[in-house]
Amino acid sequence: MLSDKMVTAFNDQINAEIYSAYFYLAMNAYFESKSLAGFSHWMRMQAQEEMLHAMKIYDYVNERGGQVVLDTIAKPPARWNSAQEVFADVLAHEQKVTGLINELMNLALDERDHASAGFLQWFVSEQVEEESNVGAVVDKLQLIGADTSGLFVLDQELGTRLPPTVP
Ligand code: FEO
Repeated sequence: MLSDKMVTAFNDQINAEIYSAYFYLAMNAYFESKSLAGFSHWMRMQAQEEMLHAMKIYDYVNERGGQVVLDTIAKPPARWNSAQEVFADVLAHEQKVTGLINELMNLALDERDHASAGFLQWFVSEQVEEESNVGAVVDKLQLIGADTSGLFVLDQELGTRLPPTVP
C-alpha cells in the first residue's frame, strides 16, 4: 500500500507526464505549420512516449492500491521562432522533469518505500537517455545555424524515429 504522500506525488507526476505529452503535441503542431515533417514526426513520437510514461505510473498506483486522481492539464505554449528555440525548450523541460523524478525518488527513500524506489529507478535512467538524445539534437541545430540545407538533412533524420514501445 502506498502512503498518502506517495499517492499525491505520483498523481502530480502523472499530470506532469500528460502535460509533457501536451507540450510536445503543441511542438508537433508548430512543425506541422512549418512543413518540417521529420521534426513534426519526432514530436509526435515524443508525445506518445510521454503518455506511456504517464500510464506506467497510472498502472503502478493502481497496482499498489492507491487511487489515481486526474487534474487539469496546463495550457502549453504555441509559438516559437525556430527549431533551435523549440529544442532549447525541450531540453529545459526534460531537465525540469529529471528534477521532478529525483524529488519523487527522494520522497520514496524518505518514506522507506523500497518498491517505489525500485519502480522509479527506471524513470531515473530514462531521463538520462532523454536528456542525452535531446542534447544531441540541440548540438546539431547549433552547428546548422541558419543553413537550411542542414536543417533539411536533420529533418530527414528525425523523421526516422521509431514509435515508442510500452515501457
Ligand atoms: Fe516523461 Fe520526457 O519525460
